[in-house]
Amino acid sequence: MSISVDLRSVVDAIAPARTVTVLTGAGMSAESGVPTFRDVQTGLWARYDPMTLATPEAWDDDPALVWAWYQRRRAMVTAVEPNDGHRALAGWARSADIRVMTQNVDDLHERAGSTEVVHVHGSLFACRCDTCGRAYEPEVVDLDTDRIDPPECDCGGLVRPGVVWFGEALPQNAFAEATARAEAADVFVLVGTSGVVYPAAGLPHIARAAGATIIEINPHETDLSDACDITIRSTAAVAIPAIVDACTS
Ligand code: APR
Repeated sequence: MSISVDLRSVVDAIAPARTVTVLTGAGMSAESGVPTFRDVQTGLWARYDPMTLATPEAWDDDPALVWAWYQRRRAMVTAVEPNDGHRALAGWARSADIRVMTQNVDDLHERAGSTEVVHVHGSLFACRCDTCGRAYEPEVVDLDTDRIDPPECDCGGLVRPGVVWFGEALPQNAFAEATARAEAADVFVLVGTSGVVYPAAGLPHIARAAGATIIEINPHETDLSDACDITIRSTAAVAIPAIVDACTS
């Protein structure tokens, strides 16, 4: 896919910027082949509805089923690689104040070298006790089974996935940091998000109110496109490296 906009306007917006904040969504990981919710539902998982598995009710009702599903998702994410977009963002941050936050629960930004990534919807790789909240790092296994007993915490609770389930509030610290990064942005770049899930989709509006220039990278128009100053109808793995090259050469 090519870039359908003259990068000059992007370079002119970014050149004077002290802080560039980037919010990514599922489209950021698309070119890495990260399975979406529905891709996971193959084989013995085909009989389950992902929308019901990613809920507190499913966890209360059958923790071994939910834990096995997330083990499968962790294994599927671990089997793919960051793409050129992830790598370009991580490289850019070595010479500029680039602050990455994501709605994605994969670890591809981190594996590409980005640091201090804010996960507003949690992470597949940051588990915690469902009772005392103690953090746990899960081992990645891909047993072909739909039941795996979750680890037990010393307090007697169960170790749960560290992602935001439907009906749950976002992690307060993560969203407070994301809001601060939106307010601090001179340029706010939206990559690969449909902009329909709030409160994350409200972050570009916060940045705009604080005076930031908003840039969207997405092959398609979204609910946020009208609020953007520059829209780049291209993909993450094509547009981000091109922008970084244009801004750093
Ligand atoms: N590069 C850039 N954008 C892309 C690419 C790509 N290669 N491929 C697809 N897109 C765009 C699509 O056009 C779409 O606008 O990525 C967006 C993905 O939208 P969603 O699937 O709705 O993902 P996202 O916006 O991250 O969803 C937000 O909803 O599913 C819940 O909690 C989940 O964090 C997720 C939230």
